Amino acid sequence: MNRKRLYIQEVATRDGFQNESRFVDTEAKIALIDCLSECGYAKIEVTSFTSPKAIPALRDAEAVMHRIKRREGIIYTALVPNVRGAERAISCHVDEINLVMSVSESHNRSNLRMTREQSFAQLRSVIEAVQKTPVSINVSLSTAMGCPMEGDVPVEQVLEWVQRFVDIGIHGVTLCDTTGMAFPSQVATLSEAVRSRFPALEVTLHFHNTRGMALANTLSALGAGIDRFDASLGGLGGCPYAPGATGNVCTEDLVHMLELEGFRTGVDLDGVLAASALLPGLVGHEVPGQLLKAGRRLDLHPMPSTEGGA
Ligand code: COA
Ligand code: ZN
Repeated sequence: MNRKRLYIQEVATRDGFQNESRFVDTEAKIALIDCLSECGYAKIEVTSFTSPKAIPALRDAEAVMHRIKRREGIIYTALVPNVRGAERAISCHVDEINLVMSVSESHNRSNLRMTREQSFAQLRSVIEAVQKTPVSINVSLSTAMGCPMEGDVPVEQVLEWVQRFVDIGIHGVTLCDTTGMAFPSQVATLSEAVRSRFPALEVTLHFHNTRGMALANTLSALGAGIDRFDASLGGLGGCPYAPGATGNVCTEDLVHMLELEGFRTGVDLDGVLAASALLPGLVGHEVPGQLLKAGRRLDLHPMPSTEGGA
């Protein structure tokens, strides 16, 4: 039995809620994150410190970050697009800042209203400032496996951006399939290239299930030695500035599969399912996750009665 340890990072309250039209009440966000803190995640992406005009759903980032109960051993991170966001995040004592920019120029412009070079310059000044503090830094590279406006994104281009961040002292990078364009053999090629060129780098893969390939892509990444994955409760998620974006790989579906395959995720699946059951009430619609509807593989059903039928 494969007992390899994996690291599962919850992103529902950031990637999920950023894309919801209904504002999830601050108290409800805090209660949900407190629930998730009991579930054994390696990391929770609590919110983002973005412009409240760009992402109104997360305009309560300070209140949420200040009031959640932090559990030792979990890294509480937040997405940050610029210097102003980093200042806000640091004032809330985040454990980690998750900086973001896109590998493709078009998505960077539509999402962040900057060229990639302008983004890089902003992020570099954030990195220089944050490196003097105890806060750690991860860099998320959006559209690393395809851009909804430009199409294929060459592996070399992804490696170049990773290299630029490694050169300025970054130890962790997330490769994001922002709109679910990745497919398994592509994921294997990219993952192998990143692992072999940057063996010491902490690499996270961030899949969206837009075309139903997120679990297949995860298996492919595992085969290439990746051990860290973002996932979203109920399969919520999506970038409001990427045409056609839909939810992330669903945490409970992912954990269920990984445990069947013999991996140790550290995640308490019952706790995650209980938290996921709260989502429709919070966001006002059904969520895409399948496990909550179907039950675990061996949740058996009573045999239907054969007596008295017509
Ligand atoms: N937090 C809070 N407010 C911010 C901010 C931040 N991180 N960055 C900028 N602002 C405010 C400015 O103070 C300014 O406010 P004002 O209009 O009241 O003066 C306003 O936002 C515009 O600032 P500007 O620097 O011109 O930014 P912009 O309008 O070009 O937007 C971003 C750039 C990056 C701030 C914005 O596009 C953004 O937050 N994008 C995030 C997108 C995202 O999270 N996508 C999903 C995740 S991938
Ligand atoms: Zn995402």
